[in-house]
Amino acid sequence: MAHKLTQLLIVIMLIQVQKNIVVGKPQVPCYFMFGDSLVDSGNNNGLVTFSRVNYPPYGMDFPEGATGRFTNGRTFADIIGQLLGFEKFIPPHTAATDAQISIGVNYASGSSGIREETGIHLGDRISMDTQLVNHNSTISRLLSLQENTSFLEKCIYLVNTGNNDYVNNYFISDKYNTSRIYTTDQYASVLIQQLSQQLRTLYNLGARKIVVNGVVKVGCIPIVVGTFDTEGKPCVESFNDAAKLYNDKLKPLIDDLNTNYSDARFTFINMTRISSLQGAGMSLSTTPCCQLTEGYACIPYSIPCPDRTMSMYFDGYHFAEIVATSIATRSYTALSPLDASPYDISDLVRLHDTKYYADI
Ligand SMILES: *[C@@H]1O[C@H](CO)[C@@H](O)[C@H](O)[C@H]1NC(C)=O
Ligand SMILES: *[C@@H]1O[C@H](CO)[C@@H](O)[C@H](O)[C@H]1NC(C)=O
Ligand SMILES: *[C@@H]1O[C@H](CO)[C@@H](O)[C@H](O)[C@H]1NC(C)=O
Ligand SMILES: *[C@@H]1O[C@H](CO)[C@@H](O)[C@H](O)[C@H]1NC(C)=O
Ligand SMILES: *[C@@H]1O[C@H](CO)[C@@H](O)[C@H](O)[C@H]1NC(C)=O
Repeated sequence: MAHKLTQLLIVIMLIQVQKNIVVGKPQVPCYFMFGDSLVDSGNNNGLVTFSRVNYPPYGMDFPEGATGRFTNGRTFADIIGQLLGFEKFIPPHTAATDAQISIGVNYASGSSGIREETGIHLGDRISMDTQLVNHNSTISRLLSLQENTSFLEKCIYLVNTGNNDYVNNYFISDKYNTSRIYTTDQYASVLIQQLSQQLRTLYNLGARKIVVNGVVKVGCIPIVVGTFDTEGKPCVESFNDAAKLYNDKLKPLIDDLNTNYSDARFTFINMTRISSLQGAGMSLSTTPCCQLTEGYACIPYSIPCPDRTMSMYFDGYHFAEIVATSIATRSYTALSPLDASPYDISDLVRLHDTKYYADI
């Protein structure tokens, strides 16, 4: 009897899953992404930069192969898109057609940051400010296609930036002057101030459901561990301390924005926590999976580790897909309020009447 019941439940569940697949309607009308290489889906492919990875073994576990994603498989932005019910991957800005832009665009660019100069020693990149200019052009394009753009307020906007303002700016003191101008605390404030302006621009472009990721444990990234003194510890703790100052200021910024813009909802994702798999009961090797160039990228066409689900990092900078999966699922459905606050992405999806968020 219990067995029959279980079978019945499984059949019902399968029908449910099937239904979702058949109906295939995304939970929101569109999805836009901004930020750095952790979410870039190919925008750097045509740029002159060392931060360009459209060659194997990158993409070896991705259905379309090497697309310019900085990992073996999907990025967490891709997986969030799937959790939102989008059947196809949202195109990079450089390739988005008129028919695609009303579903969403990915503007992210490897080596870019909040600050304009961030990543310049690696070559060309699309800074956050330029990504927002590009989004403004997308909206002009929608208007010229006679679209009523009021649907933009129902969409999810993901912003994953700030990491390069540390690893490809502040901490490279022979190429950037920020560490001579600012203490780590002042630098965190300056970044937060500029990001605040950028988030308000996004709001002014019609965004009302905005997910803002904090920075990862930058002191644990293999290139940082391999280049700087860890003082016998697994990570460079002074780097993590600097990143913590930023994250600790980002959370109150999000609260402030929610207070000031009562017809929008912003949320903070604790990347430090979820990307280090805290509370996930999982522990992975911190040795990069692929064979590295001097610049800590994968050597083109080299043979990587056989089992990518055992490594935290694919190359010397970027997470393997297994970590992206964890980041995406916990951003979408938080395991704890420490993962995402005050909302996870599934909460943002459910908020329908964007005019009266103040009571929530
Ligand atoms: C656009 O759509 C919204 C919601 O459906 C509607 O309230 C508004 O009047 C429309 N605007 C135009 C210019 O058609
Ligand atoms: C720091 O470098 C930037 C270029 O990246 C330059 O515009 C600025 O003037 C420099 N500031 C100082 C105080 O040297
Ligand atoms: C978008 O671009 C237009 C035209 O250049 C400009 O007037 C407007 O201020 C921009 N909007 C935002 C929010 O930056
Ligand atoms: C929110 O509004 C207060 C009061 O007007 C202002 O001081 C603060 O800068 C605003 N913060 C943001 C992030 O918009
Ligand atoms: C992120 O999570 C960690 C615990 O894993 C916590 O110590 C930290 O305060 C959180 N950061 C923010 C800004 O909430």
